Amino acid sequence: MSTMNITITVNGRDRRADAAPRMTLIDFLRDELRLTGSHIGCEHGVCGACTVLLDGDPIRACLMFAVQADGLSVTTVEGLEDETGALSAVQDAFWETHALQCGYCTPGMLMAAQALLHENDDPSDAEIREAISGNLCRCTGYQQIVDAIKLAAKTLSTERANA
Ligand code: FES
Ligand code: FES
Repeated sequence: MSTMNITITVNGRDRRADAAPRMTLIDFLRDELRLTGSHIGCEHGVCGACTVLLDGDPIRACLMFAVQADGLSVTTVEGLEDETGALSAVQDAFWETHALQCGYCTPGMLMAAQALLHENDDPSDAEIREAISGNLCRCTGYQQIVDAIKLAAKTLSTERANA
């Protein structure tokens, strides 16, 4: 099968590679770029494990072809930590509140949370539950995830106040 040469800005860095027209974005990220933090679950848009940000918006990377992201910007879970490798506020809050068990859903949850807090710096419980409603977790019962996102919102608010 012929391939297309594409360039996607991934976690702030331009990544150029060949992709078959039918290669999904999640396969491109994991197999071509070796960014294996984003997980593959259902492969048909139901579980949210593959969630990444496309130009800042959360999307299912299993439902998009890599060639459709040519020229666009993608953020994966690897892009959340800062340049020193320190965890982001959202990652740290998940650790602090024990918001993961097996961790399979966690990369997608983190990206959904990141997108929410970018749009809404003080979300209610209902808004948090709505934001993660497309991400399935088989382990936690969701309450710790809600707690984590509330804690991250508080941390980010304190950081802004002290800036
Ligand atoms: S693997 Fe993409 S939504 Fe489940
Ligand atoms: S922590 Fe196991 S699926 Fe969410």
